[in-house]
Amino acid sequence: MSYHIQSYQQYQKDCLQAKSDPGQFWDVIARDNFVWRKPWHTTFEFDFSIPEVKWFEGGQLNITENCLDRHLADRALQTAIIFEPNNPQSEAEHINYLDLHQRVCRFANVLKDNGVVKGDRVCIYLPMIPELAIAVLACARIGAIHSVVFAGFSSTALATRIVDCNAKLVVTSDGGFRGDKILDLKTIVDKALEDCAMVEAVLLVRRTGNQVVLRPDRDAWIEPQLESASHDCPAEVMESEDPLFILYTSGSTGQPKGMMHTTGGYMVYSAYTFKNYFQYTDGNVYWCTADIGWITGHSYIVYGPLLNGATTVMFEGVPSYPDFGRFWEIVEKHKVTQFYTAPTAIRALAKQPLSFVNSHDLSSLKVLGTVGEPINEEAWQWYHEHIGGGTTPITDTWWQTETGGIMIANLPGIIAAKPTFATKPMPGIQVVLKSEDSQSLDGPAEGSLCIDFPWPSMARTIWGNHSRFKETYFSAFQGCYFTGDGAIRDDQGNYRITGRVDDVIIVSGHNLGTAPIEDAINEHPEIAESAVVGRHHDIKGQSLCGFVIPKHQNLEVSGLLSGVNVLISDQIGPIAKLDQILIVSGLPKTRSGKIMRRILRKIAAGETDHLGDISTLLNPEVVEEIISQLNQSK
Ligand code: WTA
Repeated sequence: MSYHIQSYQQYQKDCLQAKSDPGQFWDVIARDNFVWRKPWHTTFEFDFSIPEVKWFEGGQLNITENCLDRHLADRALQTAIIFEPNNPQSEAEHINYLDLHQRVCRFANVLKDNGVVKGDRVCIYLPMIPELAIAVLACARIGAIHSVVFAGFSSTALATRIVDCNAKLVVTSDGGFRGDKILDLKTIVDKALEDCAMVEAVLLVRRTGNQVVLRPDRDAWIEPQLESASHDCPAEVMESEDPLFILYTSGSTGQPKGMMHTTGGYMVYSAYTFKNYFQYTDGNVYWCTADIGWITGHSYIVYGPLLNGATTVMFEGVPSYPDFGRFWEIVEKHKVTQFYTAPTAIRALAKQPLSFVNSHDLSSLKVLGTVGEPINEEAWQWYHEHIGGGTTPITDTWWQTETGGIMIANLPGIIAAKPTFATKPMPGIQVVLKSEDSQSLDGPAEGSLCIDFPWPSMARTIWGNHSRFKETYFSAFQGCYFTGDGAIRDDQGNYRITGRVDDVIIVSGHNLGTAPIEDAINEHPEIAESAVVGRHHDIKGQSLCGFVIPKHQNLEVSGLLSGVNVLISDQIGPIAKLDQILIVSGLPKTRSGKIMRRILRKIAAGETDHLGDISTLLNPEVVEEIISQLNQSK
């Protein structure tokens, strides 16, 4: 059995083997493709009722030895990271494996000098610059647990995440460039840290040259420390189940969920899926446009590619700056072979004149990928025809922060694509569809998407809240991991993800929980209560629509949306802003007081003729009221 799946026949064989003898299947992959300090004694153990999952127990390793040290023998001078800056006039930076190794070791030594030890949490709040990847790897080098927070989150959101994992140190910068904007990260960090007494030190990377105020007892530039640090830093020996990182994702309450991933299993699965979904071979240049602040960047900009000795592009900017041809210019410039992006970006770019695409040579591309949300047929066809020249395979990859790696997708050139379908699971991924009454559905069906067997890179817990982990993922359907998504299976066994069935809304590929947004809206002095739902949006996939109950009859409508959006930007970040606000006198609720979002979603979509059963509502009359209010306000 080989790590690289090269035919449909092999895929089928591997699926069978991974199902009939998962221990043997993963043993061989883990043993033959990675460097371990000590072999494991138990391939896996699990009990979903606790839930507890362990992979490669007894094994010892350091993931950075697998990402870096082992490549020094055969590819020291090969480029590991191509950094493409925001400004197209600035030179791209090529960092080879030897340089990257040294920079990671220096950074790791600086962390140690600042008192960071194995098991400590380090919060990384950086723009998409090489130091972001280096900081991540430096943490892993010394066994510190990294918690990267996307640099678009507000100070309140950052503080919540720092407090939740009790981070000892924050790595940030004087700012960052994004399109024509300059991010003022240091000010955001300063504000966040007013509520984070546990943070002992802030290390600052210089990026924009902006004036920043340092607090001498806490803040320091990292450059002089890196210069004097040794580039020799022995890797900390980690147990396979030692935590590697925490990454926050939205949930159904205001508190984000710190998904905790461990070392051995995450390494094996992120590397295995990278190799196969991108069919990466030596000499390729792979580019994922995500931010390392999301799981896609963790698994498929940093770990997956480096574990495979790949060349991975990191882009600091945005697809629209200085114009909408930027992505295609970068593909041409670096001869990108694999290009992985989000449907939102594809939809936005598809709206632009084709001259932005056609003025670039995209013939280097051999695999295209999408991630983060369902891709609609039209966007898929545009991607296929105009970027892929009608022939380059597109892999539509379904997975989650919680799953650590790609779970369902067509292996390019091996599993036939079916637009809007993620298609088939990876070997070892046992997908089941469940009906509302918890029955497993056979054959073609629609139901809740669950996985009923562990895989190496699944999150092990929610940091500091194992009971929430159990409640969220292992309680809806006994003996299964519940994804929160709905799916359809066709008669060929292909899966189509239909979207979230919980209170998470995906806007431009970003997961947003309704609860924290509603909490922010409710801070508005004129608003008594609110409910947020998603509605179709041509580019973003979904946009946010808020139903609000005013405190007084004579609510001033003008300025309300912008007033609410200021609060949302403050509490969460601009990504969670509302597109629309609807003023109503009440919200439909179940007898237990839960807002019936299903009905609000239909109302927001204008589908008021098909509201379904509203008889179980506590206040069915409010539905009519809302509809007539909206009609009046049109
Ligand atoms: C959605 C991103 C349809 C899904 C890697 C999932 C998708 C959530 C796809 C996880 C896809 C991701 N097709 N939906 N190819 N990929 N999703 O945690 O609802 O940011 O549950 O991880 O995004 O988002 P997250």
